[in-house]
Amino acid sequence: MRIAVGSDHRGFALKSRLVKYLEEAGHEIMDLGCSCADACNYPDFAFAVGEAVAAGAADRGILVCGTGIGMSIAANKVRGVRAALCRTLEDALMTRRHNDSNVLALSERSAEDPRVDELVRTWLDTPFEGGRHQTRIDGITAYEARTMKRPGC
Ligand code: RB5
Repeated sequence: MRIAVGSDHRGFALKSRLVKYLEEAGHEIMDLGCSCADACNYPDFAFAVGEAVAAGAADRGILVCGTGIGMSIAANKVRGVRAALCRTLEDALMTRRHNDSNVLALSERSAEDPRVDELVRTWLDTPFEGGRHQTRIDGITAYEARTMKRPGC
């Protein structure tokens, strides 16, 4: 899978570890920064990863900041992105099954959870169930089409 990843300074250590883990698992990684632990602004990286996913340059995106909240708020401003902040395996499983989330937002505190690799793997591997959930996604997509512009439009 082609995965775009990004973090701010707070998420840098976990993002760097996940890049290695995902490359070793055979994924193609686009690391869109940040590139060191100096203070920076999470929306810049959320938009870069979100736009890569929305444009089809990446199949999925993974973002890390202090809480994961800022990254999920910013990424969800990009039309076509369905970013989900996941703290548990159940979150990861359900957001793939029901929301077809295409961006995973993580808190740097997840680095302390021994199951964070399993959480990421679960999110990558779990299929969308479709059916009645597709109807709900279609509602989001229709709302975006009415109200959101793509960059440059
Ligand atoms: C940065 O200090 C922090 O605000 C950021 O990493 C994130 O937690 C925002 O939601």
